[in-house]
Amino acid sequence: FPTNMLSGRHLLITGGPTREAIDPVRYISNHSSGKMAYALAEEAVLAGARVTLVSGPVNLAVPDRVSCLFVDSAQQMLAACEQVLDQQDMVDAFIGVAAVADYRVAQVSEQKIKKQDEEMVLRLVRNPDILATVAERQERPFMVGFAAETENLLAHAGNKVRRKKLDLIFANDASATFNSDAAAAVALWPMTGEDKLAQQSLGPATKSFLARQMLTLISERL
Ligand code: C5P
Repeated sequence: FPTNMLSGRHLLITGGPTREAIDPVRYISNHSSGKMAYALAEEAVLAGARVTLVSGPVNLAVPDRVSCLFVDSAQQMLAACEQVLDQQDMVDAFIGVAAVADYRVAQVSEQKIKKQDEEMVLRLVRNPDILATVAERQERPFMVGFAAETENLLAHAGNKVRRKKLDLIFANDASATFNSDAAAAVALWPMTGEDKLAQQSLGPATKSFLARQMLTLISERL
């Protein structure tokens, strides 16, 4: 793992969950720990990259020399990413690791909601897809996505890479990866002039080791 593999490169990484407010004291979120994104950020810096991490709320220390923007909601995460992408300083690769909430509460209550009936209904609306939105930009970075699935892993990941127009996707088993220190993944990427996707298995290994393998694949394709 050469220490200069990513020197001169700027990576923008999203990580952790998002929190979608219901009222001032409640939110909807998920079990993402942020460990994979933070491992990628740490290893990318060690490989010589400049790293901007846009992080949802997690219980992890920001690795040395990583510049980190903290956000709560998906909308804030997209705004922070767009702010970084709009700066002069070019982003070479965008790595969307965050477990972004697909839906947010349609009307966030300004006051704490009091309990009333036996049932209550929360109306949800779709959040923007950060990865797909960035992929539509005119001068887009090399686009890397993650797919955590509980079934039909490779089929879902393959569809995602095409639908979101990604350059590379890492597919992993959601039941094994969340909050775990170790993981395995399958890398899938489109081959020029061919219909089918190239494929490579990574791990099982620690998330740090996996991160180095992922960054090697990315640096070879940048
Ligand atoms: O479609 P799905 O959410 O499973 O796709 C996962 C990939 O898309 C991850 O890389 C995730 O970070 C990204 N994503 C995103 N914005 C969303 C939803 C997912 O960037 N709103």
